[in-house]
Formats: sequence, C-alpha cells, structure tokens
Amino acid sequence: MSEGLKVTVLGAAGGIGQPLSLLLTLSKLPIRHLSLYDIRLAPGVATDLSHITNVPKITGHVNPAEALEGTDVVVIVAGVPRKPGMTRDDLFSINAKIMQGLIKNVAIYAKPTCCVCVVSNPVNSLVAVAVETLKQYTSSTDNSGWVENRVFGVTTLDNVRAETFSNNKDVIVIGGHAGKTIIPLLPNGTEVPNYEEFVHRVQFGGDEVVKAKDGKGSATLSMSWAGFRFVSSVIKAKAGLLNGSTVSENELVPAFVNLKYNRGGKQLQNKLRSPKIEYFACPIKLQNHTGFVDYIDSSCLRGIPAREEKLIVQALPQLKREIQKGKDFVAKTDNSKL
Ligand code: 2OP
Repeated sequence: MSEGLKVTVLGAAGGIGQPLSLLLTLSKLPIRHLSLYDIRLAPGVATDLSHITNVPKITGHVNPAEALEGTDVVVIVAGVPRKPGMTRDDLFSINAKIMQGLIKNVAIYAKPTCCVCVVSNPVNSLVAVAVETLKQYTSSTDNSGWVENRVFGVTTLDNVRAETFSNNKDVIVIGGHAGKTIIPLLPNGTEVPNYEEFVHRVQFGGDEVVKAKDGKGSATLSMSWAGFRFVSSVIKAKAGLLNGSTVSENELVPAFVNLKYNRGGKQLQNKLRSPKIEYFACPIKLQNHTGFVDYIDSSCLRGIPAREEKLIVQALPQLKREIQKGKDFVAKTDNSKL
C-alpha cells in the first residue's frame, strides 16, 4: 500500500483534534490524505496545517459524509469534555448521540474495512455505541467479528500516565477508561514508593487535569499524544508495515476491545473469571494489512498479586454496567432519525 492511507479525524477543530492533527501532519506515517471534520473551523485548521505538512493532501470539512468518503482509518475525538466534578459517564447522553450520528456516516461513506479509533468519552460506553451502530448498517450477518474487530477504545493515555507516574516503561494498564475501571499492573518484582497513591493517580489522572484547567477543559495535549501513539500503530498495521519493518511483528498495544471474535478473547474472559464481559482493555496485537484486532494477550494476568486481583474484582461491575448502557442506548434508538 505504498500510496498511503486516508485518515479522517472527526472533531478535528477541538482541543484534542487540533494537536492530534498536527502530530499526524508532521509524522512520517504513510498517510496520503488527512481529512479533518468538525462542525466549524475544520477547513481553517486544514489550511493552517497545509503550510507545514508532509502529507500530500489535507482537507477540512463541515460535512462528515465528505470527510469520510473512502477513508481507511477514522479517529473520533468529537464530543463535549468534562467540567470539574463530572465523571466521564456524565457526558454519556450528549456524546452518545454525537457518536451515533458520526458512526452512521462512517458506515455509509468510509471503506467497509475502515478502522475506528474512539477517543471520545465515556469510552467504556461509546465503544459499544460505535459497534452496535455500525452493526445496524453493515450487510454482514455472519459472526466473523468484521465490525467488532475494527473498533478500538483508545486507552493509551492510561498507559502513558502509568509509565510516567511509575517511571517504568513496562507497566501495563487493563480494564477500562474510567476511574476504578482503570487497572495498572506493575511488572512482577517491581514496586513504586506508594502503591495506593500511584493507583489512585493513574485512575483519576484525568480528574487532576480537569481540576487544574479550572472548568476550561480536560486533558487535550497528553490525550492527543496518547491518541497519536495508538493511531500510529493502527496506520502502520493497516499499511502492512508490521513485517520486518519499523514495528516488530509481535508488538502489543493497549486498547479497549470486544473479546468475542478474536484469538485470546475467551482466555482473557476465563482469567478474569467473567465469561460474559464483552469488552476489556488489554494488550492486543493488530493484524498486518487490515489493522483489525488479531490477538488478545492475557499473559499479563498470569500470577498477579492479590492487590491487583482486588482491583479487577472492583472494576468489573462498573465496566459491565457502562458497556450495557452503550448497547441499550443503541437498541432503543430509531435509527431512521439519525
Ligand atoms: C483523560 O483520561 C480525556 O479521558 C481523557 O483525561
């Protein structure tokens, strides 16, 4: 795929969208067309970036259909951010509607092989909204995971925070992307000076930023960096660069994904002792050329200490509730009104 991919950012003029688009513009990734959509200002952001870009084509749109036409990778950062005192779940009703409308356009205008990266919050619910909405518009009726395996909740910021706060690049974060559902796993035999403080800071790092920005937004710069890190992996996988190139074939990346139709999903459910949990954040391997979820690696759960087991047990009920909330929302919507 030497001609490169079309990558679309939905919500490109916002606090995360602009720096994320800048990072994509300056990257050496195989992008032939960077397409930016927002309800306002996206053409201006595209013009601004077009003066410095390595990307052959960069366009801005206020119409999502135009922005998504034939796209290979979509990053969704659209939606409203949190204010102090709000949880990510408090954003659900407004952001779920935005997600549904955008995903309808993804289903109709993007390529049917398009990978969908969900950054908008609450990730724990909106990934299910994206999957269920895509399923409503896909002609595939089989159980191949065609839809499920190309939708990703971007949880990389939890990993970035855990790496920074523990000063350990090998820390892994599993679970979900909200408060107690965020579970950092320190590598066996390593420690941090104050474990409880570390876990709390990783779980509520987003709140720390919301509070520090004093009502003017949530994490945007760290989120765009983390989002860029994840999207880069998807782009490289989709462009077929996982074999013998810059990314090692076995590189694992964290993401919140469906567990049903991929290798390793069932093992993960068994290790969690929660056979019905449908989505979970964990290290995954992307498939070369498609960028879809190929394999879920649950080896990080082998022999974990009781204190981490406890965090998992605490996280599961909230996670299940939030996933179900996303599914119920789509089930009760009349999609002719989208
Ligand atoms: C955070 O974790 C914005 O959800 C994002 O700060």
